[in-house]
Amino acid sequence: MDGEYIAVEHPSPSPAYPGYSSSGTVSVAGRHQRSVGQRMPAGHLILLALLLGTLVILLYAYWDVMMITAGASPMARRHEANANETLSEKLHREVRILCWVLTTPKYHKTRAAHVLRTWGRRCNKILFMTSQPDEELPTMVLTKPDRYEVLWGKTKEAFTRLYEEMRDEADWFMKADDDTFVFLENLRYMLYPYSPNTSIYFGFNYKMIGTHPKNSSYMSGGSGYVLSREALKTFAEGLNDTTKCRQEDDHAEDVEMGKCLFNLDVKAGDSRDEQLRNRFYPTAPFGALLSGNVGMDFWLYKYAYYNARTCMDCLSEYPVAFHYVNSQQMYVYEYFNYQFQLAGRQQVAERLPAKIREQDLVIPESDNSVS
Ligand SMILES: *[C@@H]1O[C@H](CO)[C@@H](O)[C@H](O)[C@H]1NC(C)=O
Ligand SMILES: *[C@@H]1O[C@H](CO)[C@@H](O)[C@H](O)[C@H]1NC(C)=O
Ligand SMILES: *[C@@H]1O[C@H](CO)[C@@H](O)[C@H](O)[C@H]1NC(C)=O
Ligand SMILES: *[C@@H]1O[C@H](CO)[C@@H](O)[C@H](O)[C@H]1NC(C)=O
Repeated sequence: MDGEYIAVEHPSPSPAYPGYSSSGTVSVAGRHQRSVGQRMPAGHLILLALLLGTLVILLYAYWDVMMITAGASPMARRHEANANETLSEKLHREVRILCWVLTTPKYHKTRAAHVLRTWGRRCNKILFMTSQPDEELPTMVLTKPDRYEVLWGKTKEAFTRLYEEMRDEADWFMKADDDTFVFLENLRYMLYPYSPNTSIYFGFNYKMIGTHPKNSSYMSGGSGYVLSREALKTFAEGLNDTTKCRQEDDHAEDVEMGKCLFNLDVKAGDSRDEQLRNRFYPTAPFGALLSGNVGMDFWLYKYAYYNARTCMDCLSEYPVAFHYVNSQQMYVYEYFNYQFQLAGRQQVAERLPAKIREQDLVIPESDNSVS
């Protein structure tokens, strides 16, 4: 871990122990009193000044140590709490993510429960959006029926409720399915440079098709997408505008979300890493790793907003989300990412990326010419 982020200034060892300093005080004061009214040689005066100076320093040091020991100064408290913090712990504290997972009562036990036991527990807060409460799951019960055709309606209701009830509880709001797998550490790492006050969202970028401006993108619903707090506000407050967002509950959820956010001027962020490799992926990892497995008519090549490739090294080393991960695979992912070690493998030194000011934010145009 990079020392820069976990450096601690320990109070330097001080000789000012309570007993030492208070007995010093008494003896110095006594000597002072005896000397009053007498003619004092210059040497004594210098000695007296030195002693008084020492007394002041000792008293200050004593006060300082007591404040730090009591954790009274904010600086001391912060150092105490974060002394051995890892990079992911720092990110967990500074990039707060509320996850919401779309599910139905039918899948509470077979899918949702496994999300909660695996990646879901790393969200700062997680809620399962469903139509019935479940005492084993943190749920938010929606009024919309459990039908695939009203997914867009459910998404609108979910984000609206989150905005109304818990918009201050997180910086970012991540929507996922119950067969999505999210690496929260990498999601926070990706989001770290951005301000949650910027109206922006991220996911796997698809090209907008049909009559919509073709150079805009929308995010795959399957690998999930994440809205900044500001984007959540923009969405919830702009949703009723009939010229901007589809008022009915039907149609493809992710496309409608993309159009609505586009019309509300929420930026569709570029979620790729510095080497332009995907961090969100709308299939399971093998879909990206097995090159030659698919022809150029593979749907991903056509619909990806940024040039899609499949090869052993075109997935980011810091992936954020995959889709079509069943609950058995979720435990395999857990094992290989959170327990597994390769003997002798060196840890890579990691640094947090620099923060990006909103005015400096540049989102590249589509570079996918396949159509
Ligand atoms: C930090 O780690 C050191 C050495 O492992 C340990 O002695 C100390 O108590 C830890 N401090 C905190 C605040 O966890
Ligand atoms: C972001 O917005 C919150 C209120 O939503 C405000 O308290 C905070 O100061 C803002 N931060 C920045 C960096 O503008
Ligand atoms: C799309 O392209 C047009 C024409 O090049 C341009 O005017 C417009 O700003 C672009 N829109 C976006 C969202 O990039
Ligand atoms: C949008 O419309 C719904 C239903 O009419 C209403 O309850 C809600 O308050 C409206 N939202 C805003 C932001 O105006």
